[in-house]
Amino acid sequence: MAGITDRPFRSLCYHMGAGMAVSEMLSSNPQVWKTDKSRLRMVHSDEPGVRSVQIAGSDPDEMAAAAKINVDNGAQIIDINMGCPAKKVNRKLAGSALLRYPELVEKILSAVVNAVDVPVTLKIRTGWSPEERNCVEIAQLAERCGIQALTIHGRTRACLFNGEAEYDNIRTVKQTVAIPIIANGDITDPLKARAVLEYTGADALMIGRAAQGRPWIFREIQHYLETGELLSPMPLGEVQRLMSEHIRELHDFYGQGKGVRIARKHVSWYLKEHAPGDQFRRTFNAIEDASEQLEALEAYFENFCVNKEKS
Ligand SMILES: Cc1cc2nc3c(=O)[nH]c(=O)nc-3n(C[C@H](O)[C@H](O)[C@H](O)COP(=O)(O)O)c2cc1C
Repeated sequence: MAGITDRPFRSLCYHMGAGMAVSEMLSSNPQVWKTDKSRLRMVHSDEPGVRSVQIAGSDPDEMAAAAKINVDNGAQIIDINMGCPAKKVNRKLAGSALLRYPELVEKILSAVVNAVDVPVTLKIRTGWSPEERNCVEIAQLAERCGIQALTIHGRTRACLFNGEAEYDNIRTVKQTVAIPIIANGDITDPLKARAVLEYTGADALMIGRAAQGRPWIFREIQHYLETGELLSPMPLGEVQRLMSEHIRELHDFYGQGKGVRIARKHVSWYLKEHAPGDQFRRTFNAIEDASEQLEALEAYFENFCVNKEKS
């Protein structure tokens, strides 16, 4: 996820039980690779799990070249983005806009698969719009081109993130092709995870937003699928430890200025459950210094525990 699954967050997800954590989307246009944003997206050092790098673009040769360069840089899987609904991306005919042009999709997939000797996977939505829902056609085409696994977000591009994800089309795709299918969209807890797996027959699940501020969701789902029992809630001390470690890694990875800014959104996600009020968040967001951020968090948790003991 762009802006979220950076190297520190991917590492955390792996430690919390994720089977795979895909990089943020990287444009296939080499001209933008020199920017800080792209440069950091290409960092995979010390990554604990499989290094899957997602690329986005619309020119088959450029996509093939981007895939090759990323494999040379350590990617073990290349994932192709045909799900992004952002106008900025779609205007260049990349992301989900490609779903309207199956012939171009075929050219891109073939070019990338032929360019690298690592598995190539694909991420799509169910179509451009409810009237142009062609995920079955795209899945068949992907299978023919040598795509090794397909993730489907159960919404069309026109749906953006509105309404609820549906799983009927994911189920139909699963019944149509033999490649592994990964179901995605609105999976927020272990019970829903099992229900989606059973309903769609998918081989795996992808979790996006529900991992923000709750990366231990992977462990919770895995445990439930294996035992049928729910793990007890993560102890507060553990949440604090994990969050502080995450924030420290963000400071190290991005440097003080950017690290402090990026830490804010993660802290706000972490504290959703524990600090429903806005006051601490406002105070925290005004802090410009990395060590002050960590001290504020420590003080916050100390207070929180004292108040809890009193009540
Ligand atoms: C902020 C944000 C950034 C995202 N960036 C990407 C991306 O770079 N590549 C991608 O394939 N999907 C991206 N997605 C889509 C998610 O991977 C996922 O398909 C979608 O959020 C639905 O799953 P969820 O309900 O589990 O979040 C992004 C989603 C969000 C909210």
